[in-house]
Amino acid sequence: MRTPFKAMLAVSAVAALALTGCGRQDTATSTSSGSGAAASGTMIGVALPQKTSENWVLAENLFNDGLKAAGFTPNVQFANGGVSEQQNQIQTMVTKGAKVIIVGAIDGSQLGTQLKAAKDAGATVIAYDRLLKNTDAVDYYVAYDNRKVGQLQGQALLDGMKAKKPNGPYNIELFAGSPDDANAQVFFDGAMDVLKPKIADGTLNVVSGQKEFAQVVTQGWKAENAQKRMDTLLVGNYTTATLDGVLSPNDTLARAIITSCKAAGKPVPVVTGQDSEVESVKSIMAGEQYSTINKDTRNLVKASIEMVQAIVKGQKPTVTDTTQYNNGVKIVPANLLAPVIVTKANAKEAYANDPTLSALTK
Ligand code: BGC
Repeated sequence: MRTPFKAMLAVSAVAALALTGCGRQDTATSTSSGSGAAASGTMIGVALPQKTSENWVLAENLFNDGLKAAGFTPNVQFANGGVSEQQNQIQTMVTKGAKVIIVGAIDGSQLGTQLKAAKDAGATVIAYDRLLKNTDAVDYYVAYDNRKVGQLQGQALLDGMKAKKPNGPYNIELFAGSPDDANAQVFFDGAMDVLKPKIADGTLNVVSGQKEFAQVVTQGWKAENAQKRMDTLLVGNYTTATLDGVLSPNDTLARAIITSCKAAGKPVPVVTGQDSEVESVKSIMAGEQYSTINKDTRNLVKASIEMVQAIVKGQKPTVTDTTQYNNGVKIVPANLLAPVIVTKANAKEAYANDPTLSALTK
């Protein structure tokens, strides 16, 4: 009985994601009118990964609308079929003459050949949200500050547990994202900046002993993988011990972790998240999920389009960081935006300018 029910849950979670994603058609924050001779009709490729979280779903329309409004011809593709589909899509963008190619990679290490082809054809390559690794064929990176995201998550986990129970020690478990996504390790390292000293001094106890990135990853950022691992952790480690908190790298996984705890008849621990997905904001307002991160997709797409406009006009795009993002071959100049931690306490203020999310905080 358990498996079919879970399978049903997984399917409806995907359907809900698609639906809520479609429901959040926030208007593209308009970019400064970019038309002008240089932009007119210039093709811009946008290669997005799988729809593993709502931010990617939102990005599609924002790129299409924002690039059109700036006078470009967008070519926006998802690679739901996986890495080879994304490789083919990028190659096709090169063949069609895209002037700039924006890439949200499924696996940032697997696109070297296609990115080199893009550079050889004279295109500029921008890594979007996820860094492109082990290649010199990437010009810029535009993303929210990923290390900071992890640090905010680690701090939120501590704060949330302290608010529930003023004195430790606290029993926790750690989850990370998909190991093929360059961001997953960065989020985890950021969180461990905060949590490691507390593990070392005995404030935190990772009862399963699973503390290394490789032990706590969630392949494909899939909810069902996180749910299965949480089920196993609960059975193996929490028959008598109480689980106080779980580090979750994003909202989709946070909800899967909460579902697992409830199914096991356990109290819901403090669980972190990321992305401000509709269902997680509802959960936070209902007092279940503890925190999320606001990385407003409208602003990230806007920053990307502004970068494209500067490149097409032959100007230098905005770069805020020239030290942090070493991709194995070069340090990629980055425009990093600031993420914001959101809990029930500041949700109203944090989403004040987001019509969809602010409606949930009333
Ligand atoms: C993004 C997160 C997202 C995750 C899964 C990451 O690369 O930065 O916002 O939750 O991918 O889609």
